[in-house]
Amino acid sequence: MPTPEQPRILATQQDGVLLLGLNHPPLNTLDHALRQQLYAALQTAALDPSVQAIVLHGAGGNFSAGADIREFGQPRQPPWAGDVALLIEASAKPVVAALQGVALGGGLELALAAHARIGTAGARLGLPEVKLGLLPGGGGTQRLPRLIGATAALPLILEGRDVSGDAALALGLLDAVCDEATLLDAAVRKARALGDDAAVSRPRADGEAGRQAGLAAIAVQRERLAAKPHSLPAQRLLLDCIQAALEQPLEAGLQFERQAFLQCVASPEHRGLAHAFFAEKQAGKSPAGQARPRAVQQAGVVGGGTMGAGIAVAMLNAGLDVVLIERDAASLQAGLDRINSVYQRQVDSGKLDAAARAQRLSRLSAATDYAALSAADLVVEAVFEDMDVKAQVFAELDRVCRPGAILATNTSYLDINRIARGISRPQDVIGLHFFSPANVMKLLEIVVPEQVADDVVATSFALARRLRKVPVRAGVCDGFIGNRILYVYREAANFMMEDGASPYQIDQALESFGYAMGPFRTADLTGGDIGWATRKRKAATRPPEARYVRVADRLCERGWFGQKTGRGYYLYPERGQRGRQDPEVLAVIEAERAERGIEARPFKDEEIVRRYMAALVNEAAKVLEDGIALRPADIDTALVNGYGFPRWRGGPMKYADDVGLPAILADLESYAREDAGFWAPSELLRRLVREGSTFGKLNQQH
Ligand code: 3HC
Ligand code: NAI
Repeated sequence: MPTPEQPRILATQQDGVLLLGLNHPPLNTLDHALRQQLYAALQTAALDPSVQAIVLHGAGGNFSAGADIREFGQPRQPPWAGDVALLIEASAKPVVAALQGVALGGGLELALAAHARIGTAGARLGLPEVKLGLLPGGGGTQRLPRLIGATAALPLILEGRDVSGDAALALGLLDAVCDEATLLDAAVRKARALGDDAAVSRPRADGEAGRQAGLAAIAVQRERLAAKPHSLPAQRLLLDCIQAALEQPLEAGLQFERQAFLQCVASPEHRGLAHAFFAEKQAGKSPAGQARPRAVQQAGVVGGGTMGAGIAVAMLNAGLDVVLIERDAASLQAGLDRINSVYQRQVDSGKLDAAARAQRLSRLSAATDYAALSAADLVVEAVFEDMDVKAQVFAELDRVCRPGAILATNTSYLDINRIARGISRPQDVIGLHFFSPANVMKLLEIVVPEQVADDVVATSFALARRLRKVPVRAGVCDGFIGNRILYVYREAANFMMEDGASPYQIDQALESFGYAMGPFRTADLTGGDIGWATRKRKAATRPPEARYVRVADRLCERGWFGQKTGRGYYLYPERGQRGRQDPEVLAVIEAERAERGIEARPFKDEEIVRRYMAALVNEAAKVLEDGIALRPADIDTALVNGYGFPRWRGGPMKYADDVGLPAILADLESYAREDAGFWAPSELLRRLVREGSTFGKLNQQH
């Protein structure tokens, strides 16, 4: 409950207009206390003869981020956001919502019930509930289609996308746009101008033609969802709700929505998505305590290949100045071409306009001479994955960069402690491990070597936020968090392939589990040659007793690297197609089995998932045990944002808690009877099972 010093509603009066400020900083989430106080304030205002009109606004720069998500796990306490919205809508005195900052979810739903809405051009308005496995439960599915038409409302609700104040004005979601300084005055003027007209009934935006178009759009989306292996209950239910908005009176539609909302709140998909949301918030907090980030405006990128080009684009998009360095003029031109083609695709697809592209590219410069980096605040190295090449690049950076510049490496596997020790300023060296394509993928592993300064870590977390990435702190080891775990569960898939499951069955089982692509399809997409090179490099250090499946090598020896060569595990007769099963690949696998004396046995899909997940969770527990990841939430965040783990399951550690750690441990112990080395259960997992604990409880200790 709020203390008397911190009321959730700040009330002031201006010539007969009551201003009610939502006051729950920083985001004015609609927790129970806020809803209660707002409800009471509206009731009082209705009876107060000195109040002729009401303005609803948010204190502290935001209107509201919507319902307090943490309350969904607890018994619901009235009044609901929907009850408050009804009171606003029924008010005989006009209510105007003044929107700035974020006006999302339940926050926007309150505004939708008001008699008019005024917002700033930069405000973010939206109904993002679906991203949490929910649907708008405060009347949004009923009032937004009525206000802006079902065809316009449908994508906003289904995708959970937010729009700017300017775009909202064009949609008819706002009545006017003004700047922040005049927002409240404009809202007060509007409230007065509405006078007694407030209570008049609101016409639907859609006429009969619009209604039919809306129903047709709903039908299209229903088909699209039905064709997907996975859709959220919320996605299906929100279509039903919008349909109800088109076919039923408001009251019936609101009741329908409330029931649908409750179903979503009770769904495991909501729990998984809410877990992923909070895990990201936890992972995104810099572990460097109070250290203040260094200022970064000019960035260098060394290497304009696949990764360097993507990193440069991510930085240009975030408003940084970028200097691209390559080893010779031809490679430099190739790097610039890569950057240009990323932007060209965005312009062609309408995601970016030509003026914005020109503005971004105007901040890019390029050179083959490292001296161009002398003023850089931060440099990311993305050259070949070769310790000698990287050491040379870092020696150059040490020579040319100004004191205090941050020197980062994008290495996937190499020892960053060694890179740091090799130069005169190890305190400035850090790993910034981006994922491909670097301008798209959300995950950024921030790999923290032994001697790095705290403010370098803090700067990296601040940079991630600026780049709109999801950062996760990782320690130095072979593969850091994600690639280290990936290696192990990919091995489990290889073992199953050799023991009798086809790559197609394995992919299909894991796609049914929720991965967009199974491991073999993914290998075909990323290209078999990369893994092949890594395996050759590591061959000398591979323990002789470790099981090694040679199928991937056999495919690579034939030049079957995946999509780019037209065949890999699958056949790709035409570019961009999904790929067909290849009997010759099955013959290669069969030949390998015969050579090793392995008799193929049948696998059930359920066993495939259990083995894959047991391998994943076990290695993740070892990553925690070794201090490579700080907490289970960090692993969930990394695997969801960088490795395609189904977000609606929350992440692998959440999944393990849901299945039960004793069940995972029992599986590991049973598989360990076949291969004691590979399947050896982690000590941490054993301890958690002994103590009756969970990964979720470990999260709470941080
Ligand atoms: N409920 C509870 N906590 C929330 C919250 C919410 N809706 N939104 C944000 N928070 C918390 C965050 O967890 C974080 O807490 P922490 O400091 O303890 O980690 C703090 O608020 C600040 O959040 P961010 O770091 O995310 O702040 P940003 O400025 O980066 O982003 C934001 C702001 C865009 C609003 C982002 O927080 C966000 O997307 N929030 C979720 C919004 C949402 O989904 N709203 C719909 C809720 S469901 C609903 O309204 C149901 C209704 O239909 C009835
Ligand atoms: P790439 O081969 O596409 O690009 C490397 C670029 O570095 C080439 O353009 C090359 O000309 C340039 N280069 C080489 N030596 C140089 C030097 N001394 N000075 C300046 N430029 C030089 O390689 P890719 O895939 O971009 O990988 C780069 C780094 O990123 C590697 O460390 C890799 O492990 C890592 N990485 C790769 C990912 C991927 O999916 N490709 C994902 C995450 C990290």
